[in-house]
Amino acid sequence: MTEPAYQQCINPTCCAQYAIQQVKISCDKCGSLLDILYDWNRLPVPKHLNHFEHRWATKGTQLSGQLDFSGVWRFREMMPFYRTESDIVTIGEGRTVLQNAELLARQMNMKPGSLLLQYEGLNPSGSFKDNGMTAAFTHARIVGAKRVACASTGNTSASLAMFASFAQLQGIVFIGSGKISLGKLSQALDYGALTLQIRGDFDACLRRIKQIAVDVPQLGIYLMNSVNPFRLEGQKSIMYRILEARDWQPPDWIIVPGGNLGNCSAFGKAFAEMKHLGLVKKIPRLAVINASGANTLSELYTRQNLRWNDGQFDESVPQKLYASMDESNYFPHTVASAIEISRPVNLPKALRALSVMDGVVREVSDDEILEHRAMVARWGFGCEPASAASVAGLRKLLDEHVISRDETVVCILTGHELKDPNATVMYHTGIDMKTAQDLAQRTEPHGRLSNRPVQVDDNLESIIARLG
Ligand code: F0G
Repeated sequence: MTEPAYQQCINPTCCAQYAIQQVKISCDKCGSLLDILYDWNRLPVPKHLNHFEHRWATKGTQLSGQLDFSGVWRFREMMPFYRTESDIVTIGEGRTVLQNAELLARQMNMKPGSLLLQYEGLNPSGSFKDNGMTAAFTHARIVGAKRVACASTGNTSASLAMFASFAQLQGIVFIGSGKISLGKLSQALDYGALTLQIRGDFDACLRRIKQIAVDVPQLGIYLMNSVNPFRLEGQKSIMYRILEARDWQPPDWIIVPGGNLGNCSAFGKAFAEMKHLGLVKKIPRLAVINASGANTLSELYTRQNLRWNDGQFDESVPQKLYASMDESNYFPHTVASAIEISRPVNLPKALRALSVMDGVVREVSDDEILEHRAMVARWGFGCEPASAASVAGLRKLLDEHVISRDETVVCILTGHELKDPNATVMYHTGIDMKTAQDLAQRTEPHGRLSNRPVQVDDNLESIIARLG
């Protein structure tokens, strides 16, 4: 390649290369996923991560530094696929925080200072997706795309819709019927995306949208799902921000919920690159947590021992699993609707990330997810159910002594608590707000932290009696 940034097939026996200006969602030659690669020798790479600290002076306001205002593009030397800074589409994403969760650490019986929560729900659209969307929209601008689309369990669609409205492109989202939390649906509608509700689940939606993007080129649809390798470039920045918040010291563990497996794949790439460039000495270990009702990675990695194997992994193993799912008419089901996915498109990249980061995979039940979500709310700032899979997974790994109580652990909280208020209200009251209008229809809440509203007459004495 003549350019220092290019796309390359991840299959080590293929390695076909494509220019950045090409729009691909897989390799033309072998069908594998693509990576964005860089010829680092020809690029201005920082010698130390503290290079990025000089941007702190200009990160405060959009006026003083448009790119430094973004928690993604503040690290632009680590994702230099754009031609000029005017290509970059940014809305001030990635301004998120790493919280030292002392109260939650105590609840989890961990040493003070050892449990950190990375609040990606603080992004403009309320989830980590904005980190990737800014990069994919930048590529869409480079190639002159006019219409952008995705399949989504909710957060991708909210983020796409927000960026599409900002970039003045037409946004199209495919969502499964009844499979999306109301907060996320309301965002896609509000930001003006054409919202197609397909009778089927996320996997069906993704199959369709890929088909449309590839087989019906006259529609000119640019695909924004995480098969788009540019998305993952932006999502690497979550790792840079965690290092930044820790004075560039890697933690012992990163724990992340796994759905379509884009996020964990991006984390692995970030650390592989930083190690290659001599920017970190140590790579943290990775734990990817599935919901039990959507546990493809856990089944393949933990039970069936599927490994990356330098790219020569046994593809017949996932194929057999998918065939048996088809045969038994299996559909994933979990209260963590964001990760209700049974055919994760980034499986090969996730296997690679697990290899780079010496990873483990676990699955957690819906009850474990709901209890830990409530704990994050009570002793942190809150998150949506899928995000709490990371904390529930941590509990499991502590119980198994895979993680010790004094190791430093960062749990990625991928989405904001208000994304799925129904799950929260249901936990506390037993009322499903989607279906039940009156209290008679409620079931008894049984959560350990359930906190029901108290019915009280509009009468001063009764109110005082309740408060006393
Ligand atoms: N957490 C939340 C809140 C999510 O919305 C998702 C994915 C994940 C975790 C899993 O991340 O796919 O990179 O493994 N949501 C996608 C969507 C699939 O359509 O919004 P992943």
